[in-house]
Amino acid sequence: MILRLPYNVDVDVLRESPTRAINRVVEQLRRRGVDVIMLSTGEPGVPPPREVRMWLSKFLEEESMRLYSYTPSPGFLDLREAIVDDLRDLGGIELSSDQVVVVSGGQAAMFSTLASILTPGDEVILMDPTYFGYWNLLAFFKAKPKPIVASLDREFQPDIEAIKEAIVRGKTKALILVSPDNPTGRILDWSTAKAIADIAQDYKLWIIYDEPYRTLVYEGEHIYMYKLAPENTISLYAFSKDPGIPGWRLGYVYGPQWIIKKIGLVSEAITYNPPSIAQYLVLTYLRNREVRRRHIDYVRSVYVKKRDVMVEELSKIRGAEFFKPKGAMFIMANLESILKPVGYDGGKLAEKLLLEKHVAVIPGEFFGRSTTFYIRLSFPTETVERIREGVERIREALEDLK
Ligand SMILES: Cc1ncc(COP(=O)(O)O)c(C=O)c1O
Repeated sequence: MILRLPYNVDVDVLRESPTRAINRVVEQLRRRGVDVIMLSTGEPGVPPPREVRMWLSKFLEEESMRLYSYTPSPGFLDLREAIVDDLRDLGGIELSSDQVVVVSGGQAAMFSTLASILTPGDEVILMDPTYFGYWNLLAFFKAKPKPIVASLDREFQPDIEAIKEAIVRGKTKALILVSPDNPTGRILDWSTAKAIADIAQDYKLWIIYDEPYRTLVYEGEHIYMYKLAPENTISLYAFSKDPGIPGWRLGYVYGPQWIIKKIGLVSEAITYNPPSIAQYLVLTYLRNREVRRRHIDYVRSVYVKKRDVMVEELSKIRGAEFFKPKGAMFIMANLESILKPVGYDGGKLAEKLLLEKHVAVIPGEFFGRSTTFYIRLSFPTETVERIREGVERIREALEDLK
């Protein structure tokens, strides 16, 4: 009898997320009475709509178990139907409810999806830079990342020729794309999206399309990859950004029914079901279309003002290069011309900023090899005044280095 070893994953490779590591230091600084300007978090700055919170509070008053019971593993059918309607309304996508599985947040969406498609040794193409969570998970599942540099001078659009060159038939399993992007704020443009869809179909690859910032678009339009390659695309969404419930852990995955079924089984194996209270909140939100639309418009208007202030302030730093984000919550600033001559990189700068200037940012090295001289700044959580103050302190820190 041949024994199959169960070691298909590698726990030792897991690393703490940089946002969490920074938050730990921030917590210690705060205990000492230090006020830290937080330009590091990928969290929303606006709570869910008041109406929705009020409706939910009525459920809490009920003398029943409805809010506290297990739910179906893939989420309430009502919620999956509401998601199908939402995707039709916002994206013109036609799905059935069994093409949607509700999971416990974006991280769980990533985990369950990768667990369902990867076997050790598979190659996966991803952008450099990309969301840090993917590097960790690919190592965990013993897949081989094949990073493709998406450079600032191309406004972080994926390089189609480089993608084609990186594909090895039979070995490359998937291509991961985030749009609107974390950390760069670029939105995939139409011709690039179409080219990627064609490649995925030709080479029989999965496109893992991570779109949690889909409604946070300030210029341009979100492209639904599912429409271009429905048989090859697994789309991931989290309600962490819209309606803004990161602590309540809710998201979903949609795509071909057979793979969604597998993803649902992985999700069930981890958590049994996604949190019931978050499902009720989101169901109420999605079913009240007017409230939903007003909320998205409001959040966008708040964030776009903050983005513009951050852009204005960063423009005052001589030598800083960056792309004005068209969506999401972040700006990646390239400080190579300032940092390299003095033997600094983004990591050393981030440490100095946090400990001496009390401004939290994320070093670019967490997103890829090509961005070691970058820092990522986020704009939703702090006020306009504190964003100005934070970027001014960054300017001062860079002046100190000269
Ligand atoms: C691109 C991307 N994917 C996934 C996640 C994880 O989502 P969640 O916070 O819901 O786990 C994030 C969170 O910032 C993200 O930016």
